[in-house]
Amino acid sequence: MKLLIVNGPNLNLLGIREKHIYGDRDYDALCRYIRAEAERLGCEVELFQSNHEGAIVDRIQQSYFDGTEGIVINPAAYTHTSVAILDALKAVQLPAVEVHLSDVNAREEFRRLSYAGMACEAHFIGLGFEGYARAMEYLCKL
Ligand code: DQA
Repeated sequence: MKLLIVNGPNLNLLGIREKHIYGDRDYDALCRYIRAEAERLGCEVELFQSNHEGAIVDRIQQSYFDGTEGIVINPAAYTHTSVAILDALKAVQLPAVEVHLSDVNAREEFRRLSYAGMACEAHFIGLGFEGYARAMEYLCKL
């Protein structure tokens, strides 16, 4: 199974940003973790990270044409603001799963609203890196 893993803004600064919330492992460590878990599950993954909303929309649109069979997405701050990412996920009609490293429901009120989550069939929230493994596993079982 071919999966697209999308990470939104500031996740490239993992290991630097708010370590008390996101931990001290960096984005490269996250990529290595995802690749190792994909190998264990026997699925193919492509990793994409961007700080730009339009670039994320473009990459999700591309997934319709490139043989992607499922999307794991942590839209980061765009989770709470982006109707464009929600619409892109709906447009491509691929099974999508939402991941957040931190427990967004236990933080500020504004983090409880997830637009992208409305187009996702499963949600792994507050599990750190493991959320990505659980999301990939969920999609591989479909
Ligand atoms: C996040 C949670 C978001 O609210 C925040 O803006 C992020 C990261 C998470 O993985 O916990 O950048 O998506």
